Amino acid sequence: MMIPTKKYAKAAKIAPKGFDTANEFFEFVFNDKEIIWMGQNTNHLHKENQIRDAMLSCVESREYAKYPPPEGFPELKKLILKDLNLEDSDILITAGGTESLYLCMNDILEPHNNVITCDPGYLIIDNFASRFANEVRSVPIYSSENGYKLTPELVRANMDENTKIVVLIDPLNPLGSSYTEEEMKEFAEIAEENDIYLLHDITYKDFARKHFLAADYAPDHAITIYSFSKICGMAGLRIGSIIGASNIISSVRTILINDLGTNLIAQAGAIAALKSKDDWIKEVITTTRNNQKIIKEVVDEIPGAFIPVYPSEGNMLAIDLKGTGINPTEMVEYLLERKIFVRQGTYTSNRFGDNYFRVSFSIPEEQVRTFVKEFRKAIDFLRKN
Ligand SMILES: Cc1ncc(COP(=O)(O)O)c(C=O)c1O
Repeated sequence: MMIPTKKYAKAAKIAPKGFDTANEFFEFVFNDKEIIWMGQNTNHLHKENQIRDAMLSCVESREYAKYPPPEGFPELKKLILKDLNLEDSDILITAGGTESLYLCMNDILEPHNNVITCDPGYLIIDNFASRFANEVRSVPIYSSENGYKLTPELVRANMDENTKIVVLIDPLNPLGSSYTEEEMKEFAEIAEENDIYLLHDITYKDFARKHFLAADYAPDHAITIYSFSKICGMAGLRIGSIIGASNIISSVRTILINDLGTNLIAQAGAIAALKSKDDWIKEVITTTRNNQKIIKEVVDEIPGAFIPVYPSEGNMLAIDLKGTGINPTEMVEYLLERKIFVRQGTYTSNRFGDNYFRVSFSIPEEQVRTFVKEFRKAIDFLRKN
């Protein structure tokens, strides 16, 4: 018997040149320990700190032989809510923002609904939405006219009576754009007036200079997606959470997948990460922002290249190469051959992928200096070829 093709079935991950599958590619980059990791917005600036110690002692205790409490350790739940100042909200611990996003789409959407997202954006969100909704309205935002972000005006222009979720990735992967308080208030009004949900993905929140939570302005219409992958440097541990009003989270409880709970070692690390945040965050942010300046200086020297959103409020930015005549995919391949992993635009955009590539920079400064050197050479080489 054949399993019918899913309507959303499309390669969520594209295999780069020279690899049969995306997995093969990732194994290749993962196993080469010399590769400079600027391709996944991960954070490589944490040292031998409390996060690592907490996980090591969890391993030593061998407590991982037990299952954790299914919704997450209450201590961790409390710490996350305190971190966001959302103590009145409800929360579930998940295996990352990714699981939280899926649960949200699964729980809220009806087959006749549509979802508003933006392009560029984080495409797996569109994919998840398309599994449960009739339509995903991916609004083109790659323009200075709208500040390279989904504005309240664009949302109003694209919504109708079947719109159920507006996705706000804030700061936005890949561009680093972020929302002002005024914009957040307006989104909240839209959500309340129309009784729809703001899915606020705050994966990169702590890199932003200023940040406003949708949940503060529309507490009954906001769902917050939280991740330990980026600021806490814990991407490989796969841990995050989903936060919302108690009626929303109670509804999510009915469709959980991870019924036996989330990785216990990761939770130990996450607890330590939040408890020790004041000890490490300043250094992470200072290095990340300084690295961004180094990248900006070199891009400014290159005729035809520009950074659409500067400063980026995240730990990544896009470098637009359209005016140089260089294909971003060739740039990505060139850099990978020099052991620098960055991402082509097509990974985060269906429409504008040929304009830019994305680099992330929560990495040691000397690695950014290597990138800058190779990037300059790449421009000269690829312009001639
Ligand atoms: C906007 C956004 N949301 C969610 C995620 C995934 O987060 P997690 O590692 O917690 O699953 C990413 C990862 O890059 C992201 O860019």
